Amino acid sequence: MPETRILSTDEDDMNDAVREAAALLDAGEIVALPTETVYGLAADAFNPDAVAKVFAAKERPSFDPLIVHIASFKELAEVAEMPDDIADTVKSIAGAFWPGPLTFVLPKSAKVPDLVTSGLPTVAVRQSGHVIFRAIGRALGRPIAAPSANRFGRISPTSAGAVMKELGGRIPLIIDGGACREGIESTIIAVEARGDQRPLIRILRAGPVTKEDLQKFGKVVLEKKSTERPDAPGQLASHYAPRTPLLMFDQPGDFKPEPGKKYGLLSYRGDPKTGYMDLHEWDVVEELSPGSGKLMEAALRLFHVMRVLDEAGLDAIVAEPVSETGLGVAIMDRLRRASAK
Ligand code: TXA
Ligand code: MG
Repeated sequence: MPETRILSTDEDDMNDAVREAAALLDAGEIVALPTETVYGLAADAFNPDAVAKVFAAKERPSFDPLIVHIASFKELAEVAEMPDDIADTVKSIAGAFWPGPLTFVLPKSAKVPDLVTSGLPTVAVRQSGHVIFRAIGRALGRPIAAPSANRFGRISPTSAGAVMKELGGRIPLIIDGGACREGIESTIIAVEARGDQRPLIRILRAGPVTKEDLQKFGKVVLEKKSTERPDAPGQLASHYAPRTPLLMFDQPGDFKPEPGKKYGLLSYRGDPKTGYMDLHEWDVVEELSPGSGKLMEAALRLFHVMRVLDEAGLDAIVAEPVSETGLGVAIMDRLRRASAK
């Protein structure tokens, strides 16, 4: 593989970048693209050879299916077979959150190659709201399969530089769209009809669209994390992992530092009263949302901060918990998976 190029999308460069990315995708190549959640490693979803390159570059096992990104609601019919009994609910939820950080799991259409869905009868579909991603999808004229642009099991990239660190030398092109606005991956849901009762909305992966956001559309349940859940095979317990061990504790007092070892703190607010600041003489402290603590800012910075701490030459990273409400659910999900062995 030749060197990986990064193309800017500043005003003057934007059209060229869109054209070049679409041309490479059309030719069966893979390209890293910005989305509002994290950077994705894109391929033409209808080209199995291109999709195979995504799995190879990421070293992703073939049992972990990809998300298919569509450019308009109309394109949904090309990739999914909508069951009649959930069509209205899906349409209302999509109306509220698309384009945006929400993915539906729906029965797949025959046009989607089995490699994309790892042989499952369902397909994960989302419409990204990122201007550049949308422009490339429109220029390609076909759906885009794209997992996060990191090597399998590692920290998702939220900047072009982070993609370069993950996949540099393995892919021909990265489109630089700046930092991702949301910072964590899309919420994944499955919708089920229940006769006269309100539809059931199962959250398979917590994300920027929260349980509270979805409650208006049905009864929402958050699926418990599992390594064996058949309908979200990629939700393995150990994921989003830095190379440096990341530790979490039920009680702050459970942290027993070993002499001579270097510890970094991943703090929510950098506040000694509510956090771990005074627990230890940390070698490095990184804060997710300094001051009053905002979950949106914390989500946005989470993977970046994990990456910074991972590069600081520490023996371990200790993460403070955040409150498990709203976006805090998705943040805690990522921290727990990063700390799982
Ligand atoms: O925000 C996002 O969703 C980003 C951007 C690039 O769109 N993509 C992303 O893709 O996070 P990835 O591959 O890192 O995560 C996709 C998740 C995996 O856990 C996978 O198992 C699950 O989606 N998934 C894909 N197809 C599925 C299906 N048919 N049923 C259940 N889960 C599925
Ligand atoms: Mg991923």
